[in-house]
Amino acid sequence: MSDITPDIVSFNDPETLNTDDAWVTVIRKMDEAYADLVRTQVEVEEKNTQLEQAQSFSNSIKDAMNDVLIACDQRGVIESTNRALERLTGLSEAALVGRPFSEFLGEPCIEKFQQLSATLAQEPVRDCEVELISPNGHMPLSINCSPRFDHRGRLLGMVLVGRPLGELQRAYKELNEAHAELKLAQERLVQSEKMASLGRLVAGVAHELNNPISFVYGNMHALERYTERLTTYFDAVNGGHSREELRQMREQMRLDKIIRDLGSLVDGTKEGADRVKEIVDDLRQFSSTQETEKAPFDLVHVVKSALHWIIKESKTDTQVLQTLPERQWVLGHAGQIHQVLVNLVDNAVDAMQNSTQPVLTVEMVVKDATVHLTLRDNGPGISDSSLPRLFEPFFTTKPVGKGTGLGLSISYGIVSQHGGELGLANHPQGGAVAHMTLPAVNEEGEHA
Ligand SMILES: Nc1ncnc2c1ncn2[C@@H]1O[C@H](COP(=O)(O)OP(=O)(O)OP(=O)(O)O)[C@@H](O)[C@H]1O
Ligand SMILES: [Mg+2]
Repeated sequence: MSDITPDIVSFNDPETLNTDDAWVTVIRKMDEAYADLVRTQVEVEEKNTQLEQAQSFSNSIKDAMNDVLIACDQRGVIESTNRALERLTGLSEAALVGRPFSEFLGEPCIEKFQQLSATLAQEPVRDCEVELISPNGHMPLSINCSPRFDHRGRLLGMVLVGRPLGELQRAYKELNEAHAELKLAQERLVQSEKMASLGRLVAGVAHELNNPISFVYGNMHALERYTERLTTYFDAVNGGHSREELRQMREQMRLDKIIRDLGSLVDGTKEGADRVKEIVDDLRQFSSTQETEKAPFDLVHVVKSALHWIIKESKTDTQVLQTLPERQWVLGHAGQIHQVLVNLVDNAVDAMQNSTQPVLTVEMVVKDATVHLTLRDNGPGISDSSLPRLFEPFFTTKPVGKGTGLGLSISYGIVSQHGGELGLANHPQGGAVAHMTLPAVNEEGEHA
């Protein structure tokens, strides 16, 4: 453009010269104006591109949201929304814009939404549940709502962000199911460990049952023999034998002694049967799989029972030094605490299998309403590398088939659930010492 000059130029005529100057000036100005125009055009195009990019960026964010985003005016009329609302209502943005949001709400929520819009300027709304009408029925939506102002601070309308609760509920349901499965797996694990610990008792139990049973059998044989003799004698009485014959028979068959013995035989048999019942009751109490209510029970009895069965079954000749009160009540599940003690005693006995004189020292004291029970063995103690891992599930140093490594981890959980603590450490004078605490209660189960 700056190259353009008039076609005819006369250099001699002053008037023409002035006119020419004026032309040149005009043309130069036009030239500059045109250049400005071109520059402005380029700038406008650049701004346009930036605007488009900003718009497509904000649209992409809006559309990527799973939550519903709605901008409404002061009356609740939709001005802009995103794909999430389009998906839920089955309507395009064009069909949604210009319609009051309350049109898409279930009847009971309309009033709630109107109240919400009225108070919005004073305070934003958090987690308000409304029902959105969707082609698949009513969909619960948890909405957060904030006021929208212009640059002078005048209320323009509101911005609503809604989270479909259906998805949240599904996520919760899945979480709950996973939790329930985990709990079930844990219960099964506890149960199988309990069965394993009961399995360890079986040999001792079989031996213990053998005594009273053989005792009962012996008595029954004697009673059988006595019954035969008494039947023979009564047959003779009924058969009309003479007094003298009957007296001789009584003497030969030592019937007087039999009659004297009968009472103690029956008592002895009953005692044997009672002992069998006691043993079965003891084990049944500790093997119950039912989740009963927590109840007060005597911890001393449970400790003695675990010691009795495990030491009896073990091949080693373990000396047990006990300092136990006569009774000590704690609250919870006797069977579970029995399982803990069976494992602790079992671990101690295993640790002392190579000790020349195995000694297990068991002490129970109550301090500040807490029962402290310690079991100290004179085995080799615990290695530094094992110490931090003792309560890990499946951590074991025992050969395959001997230990599952679940004993301590399950025991830890049980003691925690009873409001106590369980620890295992090396004793300064050698061996390992297990320390268990539980809240002390009185016989009624009330905390001291
Ligand atoms: N009194 C103890 N002395 C030395 N080490 C011990 C003692 N008690 C436990 N431990 C160590 O802790 C490990 C874990 O014990 P835990 O009772 O959890 O499992 P486990 O006895 O190996 O197997 P499970 O009890 O399942 O039969 C044992 O393998 C052992 O190495
Ligand atoms: Mg164990």
